[in-house]
Amino acid sequence: MGSSELDEFVERVNERTDIYSVVSRYVTLNQKSGRYWGRCPFHNEKTASFTVSPDKGFFYCFGCGAGGNAFKFLSLIENISYFEAIKLQAQRLGIDLPARKFSPEEERRRREEKALLKVNELACDFYHDGLTKEARGSEGRKYLAARGITAETIETFKLGFAPEEWDKLLSHLTRQGYSPQQLESAGLVAKRKTAAGFYDRFRGRVMIPIADVFGHVVGFGGRVLHSDDDSTPKYLNTPETALFNKGRLLFGLDKSNREINKAGVAIVVEGYMDAISLFSAGVRNVVATLGTAFTADHAKLILRYAKKIIFCYDSDEAGQRATIRALPIVQAEGAQVFVVKVPDGKDPDEFIRKHGKTAFDELIKHAQTLIDYRMKYVLAHADLSTIEGKVRALQEILPVVAKIEKTVTRNEYSKRIAAALTLDENLVGQEWEKFSRVARQAQPEKKSSAVQRQRLPAVKDTLVRQAGESILRMTWYDNEMLDYVLTAVPREIFTPVHQEIIDWFKTCAAQNIPVNQMNAAKDLSEAANAELSRILINGSDDPRSTELDLFNDAIKVMKLTVLKKKYNEVLAQTEKYIPDDRAAYVEAVQQLFKIKADIDELKGNH
Ligand code: GTP
Ligand code: MN
Repeated sequence: MGSSELDEFVERVNERTDIYSVVSRYVTLNQKSGRYWGRCPFHNEKTASFTVSPDKGFFYCFGCGAGGNAFKFLSLIENISYFEAIKLQAQRLGIDLPARKFSPEEERRRREEKALLKVNELACDFYHDGLTKEARGSEGRKYLAARGITAETIETFKLGFAPEEWDKLLSHLTRQGYSPQQLESAGLVAKRKTAAGFYDRFRGRVMIPIADVFGHVVGFGGRVLHSDDDSTPKYLNTPETALFNKGRLLFGLDKSNREINKAGVAIVVEGYMDAISLFSAGVRNVVATLGTAFTADHAKLILRYAKKIIFCYDSDEAGQRATIRALPIVQAEGAQVFVVKVPDGKDPDEFIRKHGKTAFDELIKHAQTLIDYRMKYVLAHADLSTIEGKVRALQEILPVVAKIEKTVTRNEYSKRIAAALTLDENLVGQEWEKFSRVARQAQPEKKSSAVQRQRLPAVKDTLVRQAGESILRMTWYDNEMLDYVLTAVPREIFTPVHQEIIDWFKTCAAQNIPVNQMNAAKDLSEAANAELSRILINGSDDPRSTELDLFNDAIKVMKLTVLKKKYNEVLAQTEKYIPDDRAAYVEAVQQLFKIKADIDELKGNH
């Protein structure tokens, strides 16, 4: 173990922490059947699906799946790390933090990071003063005024101006004791190429500070004043630094995250100016990417606040292609994706300035679903003058719509595709069927129909999962059950998250670690912790007396799952032996009989 002093501190805080009082500071809770219920603060909901169980020390939301112990709750709601949450709670309880010792390496990194943040903050002030207080900022002020940016917006976003000189920031910050090397690692100055020394990276530009979700400035985007000048790029960004990573930052999120949470949806735009313009017009659930593609990390960041993401990219070709590329990534993260195409080739900034907030809200209200959007895109790029062109378009659309399962919706789309391509509706239906069939056959585990008829239907996934839950609930209270469970049921039958929890139970047993919410929070992944909270909150306080039948049934379900799997595996083998290995065939068939008998016995019908 590491610092025992620290462990002691954490234990003391935990002992005196009551999850009810922690949560009720943020959420109104009502008691109902031994638990507390309230409206989840982590997603937008009208009915209470968020629950707290003080006895167990866990919270769980049946709506969004957030769960964990009191510190997890604090870390989520305050947007801080788990350890910071413990410290915050200690502060609230009046418990002093033990003097923490860092390794020299850690110490150095922390110092550097702090200095980097400080340097960025000072630079932000310098640019901001340069725009608002100094005579040479008038060029910047004029530029922003011409774009309809108000003084209020300049304050909100702390916009600035970098003077058209080579060393103003450099000398300002070195005078305050920062070394040119530090400024270089913050991306604010660069080494001269020909002579010794450094020069300011940003010159003669309107400066847009870029912050992390906590509002710490970590970099800048600098815009030239005159777009007609092709000799310099329109925007210059901070290069990648220890703090500035374009793939993980979203401009504006520090200001919009609460609004995004409240609205249940985030609007993603391409440009800084789009975000600034929308935000100051009152559309406050908006973020912008930093001139790079939208990443899975971006999606995860947004998903902390809302499940719905509306892409509102420029309607030019590049913007459309960027949208197309971003969509599958975002969908894969589990977001509901919508797309808004701003009309008349405008960007969101121009649009809202010309037509106002109400018109923009209207656009958002009519956001297209991903499927509609993809369909329109394909159609717009198809050659519908020839039958080949139409068929090609159909082939491109089918993979997008093939996932629709509802018959009504399917028919609706069939109709629309047929109309759009001026093809016969039946033909579209037939092609769709064909496509689905081929897609199904492409899945490797499907066997020929003869074998399929004899295959045993697998135990339903939900049943297996529920069985896993019963078993885990029991082993939480009685770790000694684990040995029994693992001799009766192979670990691989459990879902991956359940496997993680089981492995942890095993480690606890082996190393004499108490199975409790604190250790779970420390050792288990976020997903496993949330799952554990759900499982425990769902059950009775001590299942050993009340849930024994449930537990035994669960073991039975697991055994049945294993046997059925085994049966089907052997069956598949049997088919392969048929033509040329009679002995193996007979043996396999006997094995089948044996498994079938075991299954029947388990089911209790001899
Ligand atoms: P305005 O022209 O001021 O309205 O800018 P905008 O915010 O509308 O940006 P635009 O739609 O032209 O571009 C989208 C984003 O791409 C910008 O916000 C920048 O992040 C990025 N970008 C645009 N031009 C450049 C460039 O020349 N260099 C770099 N590195 N990024 C750029
Ligand atoms: Mn623009």
